Amino acid sequence: MSQEDSNLEARLEEQETFEPSDSFVEQANVSDPGVYEEFEENWPECWERAADLLSWDEEYDTVLEDGNAPFYEWFTGGELNASYNCLDRHVEEGRGDSVAIEWEGELGETRTYTYSELLDEVEDFAATLRDLGVEENDIVTLYMPMVPELPIAMLACARIGAPHSVVFAGFSADALATRMNSADSEYLVTCDGYYRRGDALDHLSKTNEGLEGVEHEVSDVVVVDRLGDDLDHDLADNQHDYDELVADHEGSTVEPVSRDAEDMLFLMYTSGTTGQPKGVKHTTGGYLAYTAWTSHAVLDIEADDTYWCSADIGWITGHSYIVYGPLALGTTSVMYEGTPDYPDKDRLWEIVEKNEVDIFYTAPTAIRAFMKWGAEYTENHDLSSLRLLGTVGEPINPRAWKWYYKHIGNEECPIVDTWWQTETGGMMITTLPAINEMKPGSAGPPLPGIDARVVDANGEEVDAGQAGYVTVNNPWPGMLRTLYQNDERFIEEYWQEYSDPDADEWVYFPEDGAKIDEDDYITILGRVDDVINVSGHRLGTMEIESAVVGVEGIAEAAVVGGDHDVKGEAVYVYAIPEDGYEDRHDELEEKAMEAVLDSIGPIARPEEIVFTPELPKTRSGKIMRRLLENIASGDELGDTSTLRNPEIVDEIADQVADD
Ligand code: WT7
Repeated sequence: MSQEDSNLEARLEEQETFEPSDSFVEQANVSDPGVYEEFEENWPECWERAADLLSWDEEYDTVLEDGNAPFYEWFTGGELNASYNCLDRHVEEGRGDSVAIEWEGELGETRTYTYSELLDEVEDFAATLRDLGVEENDIVTLYMPMVPELPIAMLACARIGAPHSVVFAGFSADALATRMNSADSEYLVTCDGYYRRGDALDHLSKTNEGLEGVEHEVSDVVVVDRLGDDLDHDLADNQHDYDELVADHEGSTVEPVSRDAEDMLFLMYTSGTTGQPKGVKHTTGGYLAYTAWTSHAVLDIEADDTYWCSADIGWITGHSYIVYGPLALGTTSVMYEGTPDYPDKDRLWEIVEKNEVDIFYTAPTAIRAFMKWGAEYTENHDLSSLRLLGTVGEPINPRAWKWYYKHIGNEECPIVDTWWQTETGGMMITTLPAINEMKPGSAGPPLPGIDARVVDANGEEVDAGQAGYVTVNNPWPGMLRTLYQNDERFIEEYWQEYSDPDADEWVYFPEDGAKIDEDDYITILGRVDDVINVSGHRLGTMEIESAVVGVEGIAEAAVVGGDHDVKGEAVYVYAIPEDGYEDRHDELEEKAMEAVLDSIGPIARPEEIVFTPELPKTRSGKIMRRLLENIASGDELGDTSTLRNPEIVDEIADQVADD
């Protein structure tokens, strides 16, 4: 490192706050600090500002209907269609030739869809779905990797008012079956396979295995041919080739169906405390208005920008900020099929340079990987087109933040660290890039109109510098409306903890810990439930535990997250062998690993599986998870005297340290 460079590092390391440049502020969509007050003074009508970003078939009567809280309704009486808002209206405004989706395949091929072309594809597939018998309100499952047919299928569903339920392609066959069963979904769109680091992965065999676990009859399965000759499959009677079906419907006109603002746009399953994934329900009006507004205000997206979010559409980030928000604003959204290190570790920077990307949104885990690989991978690429950077999914440590700021943003791009969840639909806590100063490591203040607080166990706001729990004390348009067919669990999971139903006071509890400072900046500390965050992906420890205890020869298991340099957290399994299996650790380990991959998928692959004759328990018999987390992270263990079996702790810690 040159002298100049190391001075720069030292300067950056000490700097605690950062300001956006004047040139950024001048061009930003939202730059008037009065926006916070405007929202506060004019609540809930302030949210008309979000609704105004959309085209409505029928104007809404009421902004917020809170008579049946926490079953809030937004923009009631309004009607609209999400696919019309993401496609037709841009074409009608004469922007049909601007690019909607710029797709980069892993092997280097590209596909470009203008708004007119994307609209044509969406209409053809909407006609196809109808022809197969899909009706308004039927739930269509999409089990697809990052191919253009995924957003096409989503928008085709939206066009005919059939909610989609996208299942991340990396999830296992079992996970697909669980989600299709839960949603009673009779239609599936999938893919023959896809490429990962150059290898063709067989996705259809996994799909077929999943379909065996579906308890009801599946009418039709549409299979996208991504791999061409690289993989040949025989299709079953109810399985159809995507291209063949669509060829029969080429040139179709499908009028967008007017949907009630509160009609379901999609379901997205996410992990919670129990083993059963939760079907988060998002609606057409509130969700679309909220993702469009936050794309406009936080990501600063304009129609003539090229914008790239490197997430997978199989997660909420991709739904909100690859598909719905950016396309509602008529921008160019880049979509990349593959991994960041294929064919080499500069792949993302090559894509930024080639497409002259203006705005880039990624996860801290990716930034930590880039840091580890070294800045030399960025240096041969011209990244000067970038204007704004964002992160999402997990806390970002100040060192990674500064690396991103310097090596990707050239100290010229503001960074937005956006806290939100599958359930919130869109961003909730983040700086507005032209208004607030940035403090690396802290997400920032709640967005205008969002009453997020940090409270103690009684719901009282904590003092600056103290740790507590995040709550959101008023509703917002992008919020989940319920858990699919489970209103009771919706209340239990999110509203029970801090609300006072007798006083009709409803407080949303996201199950995150946080600190707040004197400027109202919130630093997220992580989940306080049994959910862990591996590479920005949310995994339920109970789901993993139930997979492990399903293995013959394993009596009991506890799963926790331990610190990991790149992934943020990694999965640690502690398991007790049954009598007679004490000497068969290797065999049990292999089976437990397989069980986790089968029930969830490779993202949940345990970092370590430790066998122990006992788990540390309190005198009342509760497993001391905190202690197991400390062991996994290599942290101080603290006081173990309240345990029933303190001697087991050192034994387990020695084993983990040895591996
Ligand atoms: C959990 C939600 C939001 C889309 C991707 C994840 C954690 C999210 C941040 C952030 C610290 C964050 C929280 C949250 N999280 N963003 N900027 N800083 N933590 O969605 O799978 O629903 O997970 O991700 O713990 O509760 P998700």
